[in-house]
Amino acid sequence: MSSFQIIIGSMLGGTEYVAEACQETLTQLGHEVTLHFSPKLEDIPHENQTWLICTSTHGAGDYPDNLVPFVDQLTASTIDLTTTNYAVIGVGDSSYDTFCFAAKRIDKLLESKGCKNKIPLKTFDMQEEIDPEDEAQTWLFVNKDHL
Ligand SMILES: Cc1cc2nc3c(=O)[nH]c(=O)nc-3n(C[C@H](O)[C@H](O)[C@H](O)COP(=O)(O)O)c2cc1C
Repeated sequence: MSSFQIIIGSMLGGTEYVAEACQETLTQLGHEVTLHFSPKLEDIPHENQTWLICTSTHGAGDYPDNLVPFVDQLTASTIDLTTTNYAVIGVGDSSYDTFCFAAKRIDKLLESKGCKNKIPLKTFDMQEEIDPEDEAQTWLFVNKDHL
Protein backbone atom coordinates (compact mmCIF):
# COMPACT_ATOMS: atom_id res chain seq x y z
CA MET A 1 0.00 0.00 0.00
CA SER A 2 1.25 3.49 -0.85
CA SER A 3 0.24 6.91 0.35
CA PHE A 4 -0.92 9.23 -2.47
CA GLN A 5 -1.25 13.00 -2.51
CA ILE A 6 -3.32 14.08 -5.51
CA ILE A 7 -2.40 17.66 -6.45
CA ILE A 8 -4.98 19.35 -8.68
CA GLY A 9 -4.61 22.19 -11.17
CA SER A 10 -7.96 23.19 -12.65
CA MET A 11 -9.70 26.37 -13.79
CA LEU A 12 -13.09 25.10 -14.92
CA GLY A 13 -13.44 22.01 -12.73
CA GLY A 14 -13.03 19.29 -15.36
CA THR A 15 -9.69 18.08 -14.06
CA GLU A 16 -11.12 17.86 -10.53
CA TYR A 17 -13.44 15.09 -11.78
CA VAL A 18 -10.45 13.27 -13.24
CA ALA A 19 -8.63 13.59 -9.91
CA GLU A 20 -11.65 12.28 -7.98
CA ALA A 21 -11.92 9.32 -10.36
CA CYS A 22 -8.23 8.59 -9.67
CA GLN A 23 -8.90 8.77 -5.93
CA GLU A 24 -11.68 6.20 -6.30
CA THR A 25 -9.47 3.75 -8.20
CA LEU A 26 -6.44 4.17 -5.94
CA THR A 27 -8.61 3.66 -2.86
CA GLN A 28 -10.06 0.50 -4.41
CA LEU A 29 -6.48 -0.69 -4.99
CA GLY A 30 -5.86 -0.31 -1.25
CA HIS A 31 -3.91 2.96 -1.19
CA GLU A 32 -4.38 5.94 1.12
CA VAL A 33 -5.34 9.03 -0.87
CA THR A 34 -5.63 12.75 -0.05
CA LEU A 35 -6.86 15.35 -2.56
CA HIS A 36 -5.45 18.88 -2.67
CA PHE A 37 -7.74 21.34 -4.47
CA SER A 38 -5.72 24.42 -3.41
CA PRO A 39 -2.26 22.88 -3.10
CA LYS A 40 0.37 24.51 -0.90
CA LEU A 41 3.75 22.81 -0.60
CA GLU A 42 3.84 23.10 3.19
CA ASP A 43 0.49 21.24 3.52
CA ILE A 44 1.48 18.25 1.37
CA PRO A 45 3.40 15.33 2.90
CA HIS A 46 6.38 14.32 0.76
CA GLU A 47 8.48 11.71 2.57
CA ASN A 48 7.77 8.26 1.11
CA GLN A 49 4.72 9.61 -0.67
CA THR A 50 3.51 9.40 -4.24
CA TRP A 51 2.36 12.70 -5.71
CA LEU A 52 -0.15 12.40 -8.53
CA ILE A 53 -0.42 15.73 -10.34
CA CYS A 54 -3.64 16.20 -12.32
CA THR A 55 -3.54 19.47 -14.23
CA SER A 56 -5.14 21.20 -17.17
CA THR A 57 -3.40 23.95 -19.17
CA HIS A 58 -4.74 27.48 -19.65
CA GLY A 59 -3.73 30.78 -21.20
CA ALA A 60 -1.00 30.00 -23.71
CA GLY A 61 0.53 26.98 -22.05
CA ASP A 62 0.10 28.33 -18.51
CA TYR A 63 -0.60 26.59 -15.23
CA PRO A 64 -4.15 26.90 -13.86
CA ASP A 65 -4.27 29.76 -11.32
CA ASN A 66 -4.77 27.46 -8.33
CA LEU A 67 -1.58 25.52 -9.12
CA VAL A 68 0.70 28.57 -9.45
CA PRO A 69 1.50 28.97 -5.70
CA PHE A 70 2.51 25.29 -5.46
CA VAL A 71 4.71 25.53 -8.57
CA ASP A 72 6.37 28.72 -7.31
CA GLN A 73 7.01 27.16 -3.89
CA LEU A 74 8.35 23.97 -5.44
CA THR A 75 10.63 25.90 -7.82
CA ALA A 76 12.14 27.83 -4.90
CA SER A 77 12.27 24.87 -2.51
CA THR A 78 15.36 23.00 -1.39
CA ILE A 79 13.54 20.26 0.56
CA ASP A 80 14.73 16.71 0.02
CA LEU A 81 12.30 15.07 -2.42
CA THR A 82 14.38 11.97 -3.11
CA THR A 83 11.81 9.72 -1.43
CA THR A 84 8.92 11.35 -3.28
CA ASN A 85 7.49 9.39 -6.21
CA TYR A 86 5.31 11.04 -8.83
CA ALA A 87 3.13 10.68 -11.88
CA VAL A 88 1.43 13.38 -13.95
CA ILE A 89 -1.89 13.47 -15.78
CA GLY A 90 -2.42 16.37 -18.20
CA VAL A 91 -5.81 17.46 -19.51
CA GLY A 92 -5.70 19.75 -22.54
CA ASP A 93 -6.81 20.49 -26.05
CA SER A 94 -4.67 19.68 -29.08
CA SER A 95 -6.00 22.69 -30.99
CA TYR A 96 -3.48 24.67 -28.89
CA ASP A 97 0.20 24.58 -29.90
CA THR A 98 0.90 24.39 -26.20
CA PHE A 99 -0.97 21.09 -25.76
CA CYS A 100 -0.82 19.99 -22.10
CA PHE A 101 2.14 22.30 -21.59
CA ALA A 102 1.47 22.75 -17.85
CA ALA A 103 1.61 18.99 -17.33
CA LYS A 104 4.79 18.71 -19.37
CA ARG A 105 6.42 21.55 -17.43
CA ILE A 106 5.57 20.21 -13.98
CA ASP A 107 6.73 16.74 -15.02
CA LYS A 108 10.18 18.20 -15.80
CA LEU A 109 10.16 20.34 -12.65
CA LEU A 110 9.47 17.34 -10.40
CA GLU A 111 12.23 15.34 -12.08
CA SER A 112 14.66 18.27 -11.65
CA LYS A 113 13.83 18.33 -7.92
CA GLY A 114 14.88 14.70 -7.50
CA CYS A 115 11.42 13.11 -7.41
CA LYS A 116 11.14 9.62 -8.91
CA ASN A 117 8.78 9.14 -11.83
CA LYS A 118 6.59 6.03 -11.43
CA ILE A 119 4.59 6.12 -14.69
CA PRO A 120 5.33 8.24 -17.80
CA LEU A 121 3.19 11.35 -18.33
CA LYS A 122 -0.38 10.66 -19.45
CA THR A 123 -2.22 13.29 -21.49
CA PHE A 124 -5.91 13.55 -22.37
CA ASP A 125 -6.98 15.52 -25.44
CA MET A 126 -10.42 17.03 -24.91
CA GLN A 127 -10.71 17.56 -28.70
CA GLU A 128 -11.38 13.85 -28.92
CA GLU A 129 -14.60 12.28 -27.75
CA ILE A 130 -13.25 10.69 -24.64
CA ASP A 131 -14.28 10.09 -21.06
CA PRO A 132 -11.10 11.21 -19.26
CA GLU A 133 -12.33 9.98 -15.86
CA ASP A 134 -12.87 6.48 -17.18
CA GLU A 135 -9.59 6.54 -19.14
CA ALA A 136 -7.63 7.77 -16.12
CA GLN A 137 -9.05 4.94 -14.02
CA THR A 138 -8.07 2.39 -16.69
CA TRP A 139 -4.57 3.93 -16.93
CA LEU A 140 -4.07 3.59 -13.17
CA PHE A 141 -5.38 0.05 -13.17
CA VAL A 142 -3.15 -1.02 -16.07
CA ASN A 143 -0.13 0.50 -14.26
CA LYS A 144 -1.07 -0.68 -10.78
CA ASP A 145 2.08 -2.79 -10.40
CA HIS A 146 4.23 0.35 -10.84
CA LEU A 147 2.46 2.33 -8.13
C1 LIG B 1 -8.67 30.24 -22.27
C2 LIG B 1 -8.24 28.81 -22.45
C3 LIG B 1 -6.91 28.53 -22.75
C4 LIG B 1 -6.47 27.20 -22.93
N1 LIG B 1 -5.16 26.96 -23.24
C5 LIG B 1 -4.75 25.67 -23.43
C6 LIG B 1 -3.40 25.38 -23.76
O1 LIG B 1 -2.54 26.26 -23.90
N2 LIG B 1 -3.05 24.07 -23.92
C7 LIG B 1 -3.95 23.05 -23.78
O2 LIG B 1 -3.57 21.89 -23.97
N3 LIG B 1 -5.25 23.30 -23.46
C8 LIG B 1 -5.67 24.57 -23.29
N4 LIG B 1 -6.98 24.84 -22.96
C9 LIG B 1 -7.92 23.71 -22.85
C10 LIG B 1 -8.16 23.30 -21.40
O3 LIG B 1 -6.97 22.81 -20.81
C11 LIG B 1 -9.24 22.21 -21.40
O4 LIG B 1 -10.47 22.81 -21.78
C12 LIG B 1 -9.38 21.51 -20.07
O5 LIG B 1 -10.36 20.50 -20.21
C13 LIG B 1 -9.79 22.46 -18.96
O6 LIG B 1 -9.74 21.74 -17.75
P1 LIG B 1 -10.21 22.37 -16.37
O7 LIG B 1 -11.73 22.42 -16.44
O8 LIG B 1 -9.80 21.43 -15.32
O9 LIG B 1 -9.58 23.70 -16.21
C14 LIG B 1 -7.42 26.15 -22.78
C15 LIG B 1 -8.75 26.44 -22.47
C16 LIG B 1 -9.16 27.74 -22.29
C17 LIG B 1 -10.62 28.03 -21.96
